[in-house]
Amino acid sequence: MNNFNGTKIIGVGGALPATVVTNADLENQVDTSDEWITSRTGIKQRHVVDTETCTSLSTAAALDAMKFAGVNAEEIDLIIVATSTPDYLYPSTACLVQREIGAINAAAFDIEAACTGIVYALTVADQFIKTGASKTVLVIGADVHSRFLDWNDRNTCILFGDGAGAFVLQASTDENDILATYIKADGRKADFLNIPNFGVNYQKPGTPDKKEDQRFVQMNGKVVYEFAVSIVPDAVRAVCSKANMDLSDVDFFILHQANQRIIKAVATKLGLPDDKMVVTLDSVGNTSAASIPLALKHALTTGQIKSPARCALVGFGGGLTWGALIINWRAVAKSSL
Ligand code: ACO
Repeated sequence: MNNFNGTKIIGVGGALPATVVTNADLENQVDTSDEWITSRTGIKQRHVVDTETCTSLSTAAALDAMKFAGVNAEEIDLIIVATSTPDYLYPSTACLVQREIGAINAAAFDIEAACTGIVYALTVADQFIKTGASKTVLVIGADVHSRFLDWNDRNTCILFGDGAGAFVLQASTDENDILATYIKADGRKADFLNIPNFGVNYQKPGTPDKKEDQRFVQMNGKVVYEFAVSIVPDAVRAVCSKANMDLSDVDFFILHQANQRIIKAVATKLGLPDDKMVVTLDSVGNTSAASIPLALKHALTTGQIKSPARCALVGFGGGLTWGALIINWRAVAKSSL
């Protein structure tokens, strides 16, 4: 038996690359317009790596969340990074973050569930804590899709931005902030959103034709859109039911920031008021596994969310995967955001 039956969320953090690419910049690159991008997606600009990497952004987000939580690196006994765009196939990004921050007592591994990655990673971390296996867990979501985009393809290059977000979780004997978790996948829809040129599809060494185009994100936007609008409301209802809560008990809904129209359609289907929806994609685009912690941090910084607040975190993306958590946000920063 262990004494740790609750998971406290004690910190959140984020990091964005310095370079900003606006819709006007993209007008000079592909046949698009600010008006099209804004009306179809809600995105106005995104941050894109120059010298930054998945590891450096993850490290910066981790340090930001640790500062918020007031924990030092040696207290951390597990690091989980959710990413589908790591710097290397191995070592894992989690091991590289461990090295950078000096978390010498931690185990470290990556999780890949595309844009749902952070929801999967939080769910796994919650299990590690509630079974007593870990006491202080750093959970990071990070993606650098700009390295895997065809910047001549207007269907995809306008959507994504790079970034990293992080949470610090801690075991508690008497408090619990992760009230319910719910994760799902449907591999039959795997081909609708993918980056094909890895593993089985990698060119045989010595083969001259590199199929460069397969290095890039390939997406059936309409299918992904329809999938999101249909499964997100189901996921929200399912996770609320697991938490024994009504929709009206949830103070804020932090959906994966893929498209403003998806967020709006979900809010309409569930009858949710606009002021309960957190939106950051206008300034950062779709940052994939980073989008939920970045959105929470943004909402705390602007004052939209104040502690305490019950929040639904909802992810969806490649796999296809989706999932949701109900969290009780009551952490107070040990140092200013
Ligand atoms: N600028 C101008 N025109 C464009 C652009 C662009 N950037 N991109 C596409 N178009 C054109 C199309 O070619 C098409 O022209 P046509 O009618 O002459 O053929 C027209 O605009 C309409 O295209 P649609 O695909 O119908 O546009 P839609 O309204 O469906 O919006 C979008 C496309 C924004 C991609 C939408 O489908 C969407 O957001 N889907 C979800 C995508 C998503 O969230 N992906 C990430 C998932 S998370 C993860 O795991 C990585």
